[in-house]
Amino acid sequence: MAPALSTNTSATTASATAAVGEDRAPATGVRIDHVHKSYDGRSVLDDITLDVRPGEFVCLLGASGCGKSTLLNLVAGLDRPSAGTIEVPGGRPALMFQEHALFPWLTAGRNIELALRLRGVPRAERRAEAERLLRLVRLGGSYGKRVHELSGGMRQRVALARALAQDSRVLLMDEPFAALDAITRDVLHHELTRIWSETSLSVLFVTHNVREAVRLGQRVVLLSSRPGRVVREWTVDIPQPRRIEDAAVADLSVEITEELRGEIRRHGRD
Ligand SMILES: Nc1ncnc2c1ncn2[C@@H]1O[C@H](COP(=O)(O)OP(=O)(O)O)[C@@H](O)[C@H]1O
Ligand SMILES: [Mg+2]
Repeated sequence: MAPALSTNTSATTASATAAVGEDRAPATGVRIDHVHKSYDGRSVLDDITLDVRPGEFVCLLGASGCGKSTLLNLVAGLDRPSAGTIEVPGGRPALMFQEHALFPWLTAGRNIELALRLRGVPRAERRAEAERLLRLVRLGGSYGKRVHELSGGMRQRVALARALAQDSRVLLMDEPFAALDAITRDVLHHELTRIWSETSLSVLFVTHNVREAVRLGQRVVLLSSRPGRVVREWTVDIPQPRRIEDAAVADLSVEITEELRGEIRRHGRD
């Protein structure tokens, strides 16, 4: 993992410095700077400052309704902050949601090829690339399967392959495994960690599940509710691959859960 990360760091720094011409080094995978967001005069996000470094895996944790999806959508460029700035020096991020959003009339392979086409990959190369991505998510041989023939976990694997097909430097994930059973989720945690360590992706992963955040993240950032503010962050020094049942994962999860409970007590839930 180390060489991939350092390659990514230097490449991104160089390109961002050249493209943006900034004096504020180093460039980051994502830079969220004093961001506010209000809807109808109600503040949803308040003064969020958060960087995701190139190649870093950051988990954004908070109770439901605290503004996690709002923040992710801002980073994705689907909406604009009311104040503050968001920079993604490596270009447009890829997105993955809880709902797979695959086209049911296309096969798994064709869903991925559509993303490749949108990216401008020549037709002759698309099939081989789609098959490579399916192998990467361990679905080699499923190219011709239709969405209804795939289990929930397999659909999320295809959705992940489609996100990877965008060849973005940054992957934004909004509770992508929340609807899966615990065992399938555990397998996908493993696959995601493996793929992240094999690529130089920066990942911003949103979840309300503390264990999942500690299982996956190099850093866990806790958001408060009403409005969402960064309350605290933890660096997770537990080596990967971790397991959700590891004692170290459990211990840190207990500490973070205490803090999250305090937040929920202070602000209530939706
Ligand atoms: N487009 C919108 N218009 C008005 N309110 C919104 C909109 N999007 C989100 N909100 C509100 O912002 C708050 C945060 O929502 P969201 O970001 O979806 O939370 P989370 O993803 O943490 O569960 C909620 O109270 C929600 O109702
Ligand atoms: Mg959400």
